[in-house]
Amino acid sequence: MRFTPSLLEEIKARLPVSEVVRKRVQLKKSGREFSGLSPFTTEKSPSFFVNDQKMAWFDFSSGQNGNIFDFVMRTEGLSFPEAVERLAAEAGVSLPKSTPENIEREKKRASLQEVLELSAKFFEEQLQARTGARARGYLAGRGLGAPVQTQFRIGYAPDERFALRDYLAGKGATAETMIEAGMLIHGEDIAVPYDRFRDRVMFPICDRSGKVIAFGGRALEKDVPAKYLNSPETPLYHKGSVLYNHHNARKAAHDANGSVIVVEGYVDAISMTAAGFANVVAPCGTALTPDQCELLWRMAEEPILCFDGDRAGRKAAHRAIDTALPLLGAGKSLRFAFLPDGQDPDDLARNGGSDAVLSVLNAAKPLADVLWARESEAGPLDTPERRAALERRLATIVRTIGDETLRRYYLDDMRGRLDGMRGRPQRGAAQGRRPGQPWTSTRGGGRFQPPGAAQGYRFSPLSVSSSFAKSSTMARTGGISRREAHILLLFTGHPGLLARHVEDLASLEFTSREACRLRDALTTLAAERYDSDLDLRAALDDLGLAADRQKVEAMVAVASLWVVKPEAAEEDAEAALKQALALHRRAIALHRELKSAEIALAEDANEQNLARLREIQLELGAIDGREAAVEGFGFMSGRQGRSL
Ligand code: UTP
Ligand code: MN
Repeated sequence: MRFTPSLLEEIKARLPVSEVVRKRVQLKKSGREFSGLSPFTTEKSPSFFVNDQKMAWFDFSSGQNGNIFDFVMRTEGLSFPEAVERLAAEAGVSLPKSTPENIEREKKRASLQEVLELSAKFFEEQLQARTGARARGYLAGRGLGAPVQTQFRIGYAPDERFALRDYLAGKGATAETMIEAGMLIHGEDIAVPYDRFRDRVMFPICDRSGKVIAFGGRALEKDVPAKYLNSPETPLYHKGSVLYNHHNARKAAHDANGSVIVVEGYVDAISMTAAGFANVVAPCGTALTPDQCELLWRMAEEPILCFDGDRAGRKAAHRAIDTALPLLGAGKSLRFAFLPDGQDPDDLARNGGSDAVLSVLNAAKPLADVLWARESEAGPLDTPERRAALERRLATIVRTIGDETLRRYYLDDMRGRLDGMRGRPQRGAAQGRRPGQPWTSTRGGGRFQPPGAAQGYRFSPLSVSSSFAKSSTMARTGGISRREAHILLLFTGHPGLLARHVEDLASLEFTSREACRLRDALTTLAAERYDSDLDLRAALDDLGLAADRQKVEAMVAVASLWVVKPEAAEEDAEAALKQALALHRRAIALHRELKSAEIALAEDANEQNLARLREIQLELGAIDGREAAVEGFGFMSGRQGRSL
């Protein structure tokens, strides 16, 4: 075989279909696809579609479809080898000559793959056999039961030196192949090569077509030297160009409107899948590489990278930014989700379920926000020299962006943030902020703070970051927050709830005057026991609150929140009310904590106080994300289920 499957894959991976097709067909982007006029028929309205994620084109006017090779064969009348040669040159892939060595190499890959597949089967069997009892117990303890074991082909390597070797030998594999496949430990001073993986839970790592190419093995005990042991680099496995769970995530990413989630560990990926997020991958114990970024962008324009909210997590996120910057371009960026309290996605998914995961994902920050935070928080900015240094540093970093247009926009964006620091209010940020909100950088009339208070300045990035400006905790429409409006409308629409929850209502802390007025009036009116919402609303109007009531109703008309409408079932409204009350109380408490954390930090700007403040801000962000998901506000609206 002259052209091996891996060679053809390589060419396809490097050449988006849209790029190849564009030379013949004028394409227009529509959603995640492109459309244009069929090159095979004469038509006036476009029925030709290109999908880069699927690596395919579809022509509905002639009923044909195919990949890039098919396209050039059919539009240019080339033979298959000619098409491959042409596209290989375009992709910068050199074609191997079909020498005997190449044929030999391809054969070898096939035999390595066979050994790995046999190994996976062996480990699977061992897990379900008697030897696997303890491993099954371990997995069950982590919530990874039989269905998940089957789905991810989880196995167990027994605690013996030659179990796998003997099994593979029985199937006719040579020791040399086993060694080359990475399954045996060998070396000059090792007389008899023995099994690399012993007494470990085995996670097979597959290529994008689902073939096993390597393993990660987890120790059952806590305190062993290597918690995870992974396959070494082999002709089949280059860990920097592989994503764990890639083969499953590809389709799931497409089904989830082209979104993909990146987590750090194997178990994280599995738990996320179990929680309903199958569009998840993990690098195999490495920091994200450029190759992996490219693989991610084939699935999604803005993969969401999940990191621990602690220092190490932030550092990892920062490293990913440096890797990605030179590669960024149109439809190629990243978002960053930070998890609360040293939790990993596995903890989050198991403890909080899909709701908790969603709220973290919804609070994901754009790359530009994280980059800005990283640079502007690197040290104090209390002198012109230090601020100038920040500006220079940002310019240098932004210059690493390869895409020229994007580079210009990034420069603009960073300049805007620098301007914002100088006290010129930035678009979007200023209106959303209440005077005296603790994280504003521009207290004191937008001037820089005196040197002594300079540490407080370090948090300015969050004040201008778009996610906080959009925060529903902060969001205002004429003074009333969305959450306040939501709660009030649940009461005015359902007098029954008012009767049952009047105590709750009376004790609520609201931040706007209008909301307080409505709360007090409703508390008074509760005694009247209205049974129609019309009567209740008329009574509010009689108390002179018609304007306030209408304002609240108008806010919700925009958001089309069915559950607050009087026609919604009362149980549904009650469930929504309970949730909104809980979130509101938590948000109010967090705001209070935020204030005291800010004071603590001003007094002692140490790492611990900084971490505390960050944690609170993160949780506030998570609450907003959760509300967005629950209420249909924000970017979840109009989309379905869990897709992002
Ligand atoms: P973590 O240390 O975050 O572990 O490693 P984890 O995924 O939460 O593992 P559990 O939940 O304790 O089982 C993240 C990833 O880093 C790699 C593995 O790929 C792991 O999934 N890793 C970690 C190693 O390769 N070797 C190690 O010793 C530890
Ligand atoms: Mn974990």
